Amino acid sequence: MSKITVAGTGYVGLVAGVCFAEFGHHVTCVDIDEDKVNLMKSGISPIYEEGLEELMKKNYSAGRIDYTTDYKTAYKDADAIFLGVGTPEQPDGSANLTYIATVARQIAETVENHCLVVVKSTVPVGTNDRVEQFIQDFLVNDVVVEVASNPEFLAQGSAVHDTLHAERIIIGTESKWSEEMLNSIYKPFNIPIVSVNRRSAEMIKYASNDFLALKISYMNDIANLCELVGADIQDVAEGMSYDERIGAKFLNAGIGFGGSCFPKDTQALDYLAQQNSYELQTVKAAISVNKKQKTILYKKASNRLITFSGLKVAILGLTFKPGTDDLREAPSLENVPLLLSQGADIYAYDPVGTNNFAKLYPGGPSGNGSITYVHSIEQALQDANVCFIFTEWGEIKAIDPLMYKRLMRTPLLFDGRNIYSINEMKEAGVEYHSIGRKS
Ligand code: UGA
Repeated sequence: MSKITVAGTGYVGLVAGVCFAEFGHHVTCVDIDEDKVNLMKSGISPIYEEGLEELMKKNYSAGRIDYTTDYKTAYKDADAIFLGVGTPEQPDGSANLTYIATVARQIAETVENHCLVVVKSTVPVGTNDRVEQFIQDFLVNDVVVEVASNPEFLAQGSAVHDTLHAERIIIGTESKWSEEMLNSIYKPFNIPIVSVNRRSAEMIKYASNDFLALKISYMNDIANLCELVGADIQDVAEGMSYDERIGAKFLNAGIGFGGSCFPKDTQALDYLAQQNSYELQTVKAAISVNKKQKTILYKKASNRLITFSGLKVAILGLTFKPGTDDLREAPSLENVPLLLSQGADIYAYDPVGTNNFAKLYPGGPSGNGSITYVHSIEQALQDANVCFIFTEWGEIKAIDPLMYKRLMRTPLLFDGRNIYSINEMKEAGVEYHSIGRKS
């Protein structure tokens, strides 16, 4: 079993570290945040992810995983150091590699053994080459440090499951030694390994994410046309899904893709193309359709109502998708300021996302309206004039349509996730607007 260090304990780093430990490796997770490290040592996960805390506790008490801020001890004799630090988007769409560079330099200054640095973070094509050179430039001891690419494909909300049961593991290496080291680390996972060179591995990550983003934007574009011509996007998607070349997943039209990946990775690939004097027209289209899609419900509601001023507006779901407390690029972030500027009194409910949202919009008067965070769906709907659904949480999907009719002042519902059938809403007496389907 290998001695593995993981740098960065966000979604990618922490989940990878815990899963390596679960398969018997000896793992040390490094983070600069001491409070976070203490929290993790006590078995508490800094992120909300199903199954993660259980595995953290189990492997910590078995002595297979530890957490530290002391990177020197953690790096110096590791067999492999995985980088799971963030690569946030910069204003021009490029990826910010500051965190990668910081860790690379620390590694160069501390390693005492031949070791493999594995970049898990999503980085532009060519970054691994630069990281290897950078480490070489700052290397203190007379040892060999090699760099490999191993992009991560987990989705938030199902991160542990996606890692333990991935469909494939991509490894991008430039030497037999690196390839064998990664093969042996991943052997216990029993998942097919695709072994390519570093630049191809880096590109596989972007090409995969951007393909999925494209698929969603395509369905959203078709959904908008469906509305105009009287077709139903859900029936259309179902009909398409039987073709195995198309596949049944990621065909759900809605109010656009959010999260920390698709928006950033579409921009980053577009930027990479521009840097190489190439125009990536398909990805550009995915970005522009998505931008428009995020406020499509708001526009529909604005056309239906004379004003939002003085109206009680219920919002169900704030996070970019269910199963996470992450708000990055969530449609709620586009719509809430618009509603507040138009004087709406918002009553927002989300099973886990309200604390994070309140950091951006503390409760109380805001813009020309106000925002109140409530602890139940009933409180949000009570006497509301209009309701928006932004996230398809299970408990929101499970709402009895009659509840909207019973609790709201006017049962007027704008559903950004197409979670109900048109007929059940009609039968319940709810005025129902969704995406790509006739009202
Ligand atoms: C995405 C990819 O699915 C992962 O494979 C990848 O590893 C990850 O990015 C990453 O690069 O780290 P994630 O952003 O967590 O994962 O979430 P997804 O489930 O892919 O959803 C992304 C967005 O697309 C959400 O806003 C979701 O609501 C939207 N979506 C998804 C749709 O609008 N329609 C669909 O049919 C599917």
